[in-house]
Amino acid sequence: MTGPGDNRSESAAPSADAPPPQGEYGGRASLRELETASLAGSTVALRVDFNVPLRDGQIADSTRIERSLPTIRRLAEAGAAVIVLSHLGRPGGRRRPELTLKPVARWLGEEIAVPVRFCPRVRGAEARRAVARTAPGRLLLLENTRFLPGETANAPELAAEWASWSDHFVLDAFGTAHRAHASTDGLPRAVRRKGGKAMAGLLVARELDAMDKVLRSPRLPFVAVMGGAKISGKIDVMRALLPRVDDLLVGGAMANNFMRALGLETGNSLVEEDRVALAAELLEAAGPRLHLPVDFRVADALEPEAATRIAERSDVRAGEAIGDAGPATTRLYAARIREAATILWNGPMGIFEVPGFDRGTRAVALAAADAADRGATVIVGGGDSAAAAHRSGVARRLTHISTGGGASLDLLAGKSLPGLAALSPRGDAPVSG
Ligand code: 3PG
Repeated sequence: MTGPGDNRSESAAPSADAPPPQGEYGGRASLRELETASLAGSTVALRVDFNVPLRDGQIADSTRIERSLPTIRRLAEAGAAVIVLSHLGRPGGRRRPELTLKPVARWLGEEIAVPVRFCPRVRGAEARRAVARTAPGRLLLLENTRFLPGETANAPELAAEWASWSDHFVLDAFGTAHRAHASTDGLPRAVRRKGGKAMAGLLVARELDAMDKVLRSPRLPFVAVMGGAKISGKIDVMRALLPRVDDLLVGGAMANNFMRALGLETGNSLVEEDRVALAAELLEAAGPRLHLPVDFRVADALEPEAATRIAERSDVRAGEAIGDAGPATTRLYAARIREAATILWNGPMGIFEVPGFDRGTRAVALAAADAADRGATVIVGGGDSAAAAHRSGVARRLTHISTGGGASLDLLAGKSLPGLAALSPRGDAPVSG
């Protein structure tokens, strides 16, 4: 095993196979660098990711909206008419009342000083009239883009309709930048074709800066913590990270695939049978940098307050299910994390939303926060680990919590994100689907 070194300020040289630089370094325009006076009197289409969790029609977590407020304010203060586009959920190309963006319009109306109007349409005459009536410095939120089948199909005529009333385009939807949809791919390209600017918003610039810290020249030791239910979405990231990290700590149900690859019993635990061979390959290639749990918290049923026992990893019994990392694993992982200078965390160590199975995840969150307090860079991938960081009460102590789940994973895996490629003159080839 590569032990964590003592030199916390040491940086890894950017490796030859490091993903291409993101952010401004990639030659992409950004609102941050723009002389915003040039936007006065223009109409700007702003694609955000307001795909927020709703509970009883109310916004349960407004983080994604709040993170786009600086961009909204910057555009409004510049004197642009700001036309906001977002999806919410996966309505499948039809109008689904429970997935309306109306609650978001209400939230914005209450929280920001900029006057906000909502249009219940996203294209057609009514939307066009609403856009035309939006004065400089005002905000119009159109209805859920995914109520239209053309959105996910990246339909050129839909992109062209939106571009017809847009002078410029700003992408602040980092969480959706891995989708080549009409509002993230076709629209920016169509705006650029007619001579408008297509640029990254302030949220996207911040996300790319944070990712650059781990992708380009992370301070060493660099520790990645990967967890969550499924290994399928994370194989590429693990492959990309392994040559760069000192330690890759694996937890959550995805560790079960490695257990099976080692020929160990996993009882009734979640396993992706078709990924066990891939896990075996990864184990072989990874060598001592890849760490698996040495013990688990197991139960007959993964229910709140279920009777649990601690099982060494070779001692899980048929009929039992793995619900969390065990205390020995937690101690080992927390120690590695506390000694690291760069920490990337994506995915919980167990089913942390079920009381009694949240200890491993909380321990990771606390160790990461302690490391951050001592100057380490801690970047948290979106989704469950972001929720876990909040629930553990450490979110404010961490360097950056991404608003993107799938998008941050793709970026970390070295993949090009269609939404970012569409902003760059070098990424001119259209992307389908
Ligand atoms: C997300 O929540 O990850 C983004 O909003 C993208 O949503 P999608 O996975 O439905 O495209």
